[in-house]
Amino acid sequence: MPLPSFQLWLALLLLAAACASAVHPRKLARLGGLKRLAASESSSDLPPEYEIHYYRQTLDHFNYKPESYATFQQRYILNYKCWGGANTSSPIFVYTDHFNYKPESYSTFEQRYVINSKYWGGANASAPILVYFGAEAPLDGDLAVIGFLSDNAIRFNALLLYIEHRYYGKSIPFGSREEALKNGSTLGYFNSAQAIADYAEIIIHVKKSFQAENSPVIVIGGSYGGMLASWFRLKYPHIALGALASSAPVLYFDDITPQDGYYSIVTKDFRTIQKSWAVIDEIASKPNGLSILSKKFRTCKPLTDSDELKNYLDSMYSSAAQYNKPPTYPVNIICGGIDSSTNSENDPLSKIVAGLFAYTGNRSCYINAPTNVSETSVGWRWQTCSEMVIPIGRGNDTMFPPKPFDLQSYIQDCKDLYGVPPRPNWVTTYYGGHSIKLILQRFGSNIIFSNGLKDPYSSGGVLENLSDTITAVHTVNGSHCLDILVASKTTDPEWLVAQREVEIKIIDGWINEYYDDLRNQ
Ligand SMILES: *[C@@H]1O[C@H](CO)[C@@H](O)[C@H](O)[C@H]1NC(C)=O
Ligand SMILES: *[C@@H]1O[C@H](CO)[C@@H](O)[C@H](O)[C@H]1NC(C)=O
Ligand SMILES: *[C@@H]1O[C@H](CO)[C@@H](O)[C@H](O)[C@H]1NC(C)=O
Ligand SMILES: *[C@@H]1O[C@H](CO)[C@@H](O)[C@H](O)[C@H]1NC(C)=O
Ligand SMILES: *[C@@H]1O[C@H](CO)[C@@H](O)[C@H](O)[C@H]1NC(C)=O
Ligand SMILES: *[C@@H]1O[C@H](CO)[C@@H](O)[C@H](O)[C@H]1NC(C)=O
Ligand SMILES: *[C@@H]1O[C@H](CO)[C@@H](O)[C@H](O)[C@H]1NC(C)=O
Ligand SMILES: *[C@@H]1O[C@H](CO)[C@@H](O)[C@H](O)[C@H]1NC(C)=O
Repeated sequence: MPLPSFQLWLALLLLAAACASAVHPRKLARLGGLKRLAASESSSDLPPEYEIHYYRQTLDHFNYKPESYATFQQRYILNYKCWGGANTSSPIFVYTDHFNYKPESYSTFEQRYVINSKYWGGANASAPILVYFGAEAPLDGDLAVIGFLSDNAIRFNALLLYIEHRYYGKSIPFGSREEALKNGSTLGYFNSAQAIADYAEIIIHVKKSFQAENSPVIVIGGSYGGMLASWFRLKYPHIALGALASSAPVLYFDDITPQDGYYSIVTKDFRTIQKSWAVIDEIASKPNGLSILSKKFRTCKPLTDSDELKNYLDSMYSSAAQYNKPPTYPVNIICGGIDSSTNSENDPLSKIVAGLFAYTGNRSCYINAPTNVSETSVGWRWQTCSEMVIPIGRGNDTMFPPKPFDLQSYIQDCKDLYGVPPRPNWVTTYYGGHSIKLILQRFGSNIIFSNGLKDPYSSGGVLENLSDTITAVHTVNGSHCLDILVASKTTDPEWLVAQREVEIKIIDGWINEYYDDLRNQ
């Protein structure tokens, strides 16, 4: 195989030869020989339109441990003599375990996966395999709520496979959670590229052990897991025939989606809340204010500042909006509480309190009850501080106080926490996202991006069909990941049943087409 650097070199020379005659003939004569240019002549004999640049290149793109931030000078050459002249600004910031061959990279860990072969049609029938991609949580919680696989196992005669994401649940490298999460040196391997590489290895392993090499694989995920599913189809087309990416905000990176996308949907989902923030601040600023608020909201411990209360309410509204699912519709419960609050002559705080109590149910106390920190909040904090930089901010037109996303302070906070800065542009560099329709209309296939438009994350989702085979299936009243949750014959609204039916038909189409191809090969 020719050396990669030489290939690049050739490509550049060929490009030049195709549109101009000024290329140094001596260089062209060498092309047929496929011989490597001697280092000494490679740069000094270049025609003048070739500009040599050096780019400070990161050594390791697939790790976030401190050493991976080492850089080196990488040479690149430009010839824009024949270029029509375009208006591009391209601050390339390019970075260097599945993705390394140094000895440490061969260390292994036990990764958990779950198989259900009860309904499988078998290898002889090349019956399909439905694979659920675990996301930012232990797998245990997902098995009970993810219905798309189990609900459709019989229909597809499918083998069901659920895989846990590294660093969560029982799939922890470095021997223990404590060790794995200790610092950047061990956390560095905790990223999406490593995670989907894990999935690729496990799917191949499972296919082999079931002798199911010809069985088509459909990968399914929700939210971050949905992003992983869509990216997997693009990166590993030889392993997955198609992907169902439910509520996957693949466009909530860089500046593709307006920062306030998330909160403007939360705002739309609600109607009295805006006024309450100022009232909280006003009361909090009084000498006895915090204790008045603590009493009014029946907090479990006295509030130490008003942010504690405001942050709680913020996440309550956001979570209700995001998970606004039938049959209970949490947004309606909060709004019902707010609207039915009678003890007030337009007192917004009493209304908010009523909303909180309605949502939370009768408790002895509210707001700052003792909780255990979840694996998700610990793990996802790292993920968002390294790779998953999702710039959610708020302008002045939501029901929340403005709070623009401030990348510089975000970077600083992450450095303070982990000693390494996040890489805000890596997701779009590695997976894409900018001009997604333009890019994917002729590349890639067999991806369903499903969304519910009441879900704040749908603001960063793919909401239009990108091609005949990369389709957007959304519902006006749906919430986060609704379509892949366990179906209910009694309470699912018609539009949800219809959404799932559309998805199943599309997947059926992929599989049938694959079987035709398989027979005809
Ligand atoms: C490039 O395009 C941007 C926005 O379209 C414009 O503001 C800028 O002036 C253009 N630059 C050049 C060199 O044409
Ligand atoms: C699968 O096909 C092979 C070869 O055609 C055959 O020997 C085997 O018995 C079949 N297995 C089943 C379960 O049908
Ligand atoms: C992480 O901890 C290990 C052992 O405790 C230490 O050797 C290593 O230098 C630490 N790495 C960083 C980046 O602090
Ligand atoms: C909560 O308590 C109130 C009165 O304290 C009562 O009217 C209401 O029915 C209770 N709600 C629930 C869900 O138990
Ligand atoms: C926190 O975890 C401990 C140990 O697992 C458990 O006993 C306790 O009930 C949990 N507390 C809360 C508030 O969930
Ligand atoms: C909201 O912010 C924009 C941009 O900063 C500003 O132009 C606009 O006047 C503001 N609107 C209100 C109601 O404050
Ligand atoms: C995309 O195409 C599918 C059919 O292939 C259709 O069901 C769906 O409604 C289309 N989505 C949008 C947003 O038009
Ligand atoms: C969405 O929900 C609203 C309010 O319940 C209802 O009026 C509307 O018809 C629903 N829209 C669709 C498309 O189901």
